[in-house]
Amino acid sequence: MSDGEGAVEIAVDLPDGGVLAGMAEVVREGLSSPFKELPPKYFYDERGSELFERITEQPEYYPTRCEREILDARAGEIVAAAQPRTLIELGSGAATKSRVLLDAMRDAGTLERFVPVDIAEGITRRVAAELVDEYPGLTVEGIVCDYETHLERIPRPEGALIAFLGGTIGNFRPAPRRQFLARIATLMYPEDRFLLGTDLVKDRARLEAAYDDAAGVTAEFNKNVLNVLNRELGADFDLGAFEHVAFWDDDNEWIDIRLRALSEQFVDIVDLDMRAHFARNEEMRTEISTKFTRERIESSYADAGLELTDWWTDADGLYALSLARPL
Ligand code: SAH
Ligand code: AVI
Repeated sequence: MSDGEGAVEIAVDLPDGGVLAGMAEVVREGLSSPFKELPPKYFYDERGSELFERITEQPEYYPTRCEREILDARAGEIVAAAQPRTLIELGSGAATKSRVLLDAMRDAGTLERFVPVDIAEGITRRVAAELVDEYPGLTVEGIVCDYETHLERIPRPEGALIAFLGGTIGNFRPAPRRQFLARIATLMYPEDRFLLGTDLVKDRARLEAAYDDAAGVTAEFNKNVLNVLNRELGADFDLGAFEHVAFWDDDNEWIDIRLRALSEQFVDIVDLDMRAHFARNEEMRTEISTKFTRERIESSYADAGLELTDWWTDADGLYALSLARPL
């Protein structure tokens, strides 16, 4: 489906049944395995996108502020290195920080097109409408898709800066992350550049606080996935019967985010014709958020067929933006 309006076009490139089309089988598998697990992409219904934006405003959640600080300082350099006419942003969400890059492209006189790519349709439509108003002459070609399955179908004009911000790459498991970087490298023209935001390994207390804010917004975001299953699959999860868990896993260098059952319970999932059993204190993983070092990013780039050209951190060294080109 596609609807054009002035300089905005939104293409919804999802299977019949939308974002949730493949959900039944994924959820069945995730809830049937001895260690229950759900993929994080189901967080992002309308409420989930809104809750993520609220997370970024919490005092404990530093990544968004750090990334913004780096972009404010370095957007000119990034644009000078890449000289992009198109900004393609994977997992663009509210695209708040993208505006810093769009401003720098406009100032450099190269800005032509913005391609926000996100699984969440509502927020992508809103962002597209806002941006054509804010940047006269800009073409916005939004793509609503699952970037893991549809990466190769995203338009790739030459002269693009492909941005993957927010540390979202950290939400991939290691093997899919390696594959994803390699697929991006394959798609790039020699002059294209890849801009990646990555949260860095740091002390446990700061990391764990960022994923368990005092106001409880991250807990609400985490539990929202149960609302999505209730609504979309006719499940009867009781949100009050689970608690939010987030802990630093030093071996894997990721924050492990889970929901813990407060009592033994059975959950009926009508559309799956399935009853899931949770033991008291059983934990179900809903997300990982991997943290990186410069060495790990450089070697991940090399394995993927990319070369790191620039590395910038915020003043406190909590978060990094890196720029890479295809080898
Ligand atoms: N880049 C923004 C938003 C990060 S939140 C920022 O830095 O603040 C992660 C975003 O990725 C959400 O908007 C979510 O809808 C999107 N997303 C998550 N999994 C996705 C997938 N598999 N395909 C496309 N978008 C996805
Ligand atoms: C989108 N992503 C980078 C966030 C993160 O920090 O891993 C998602 C998130 N989960 C809980 N808080 C934020």
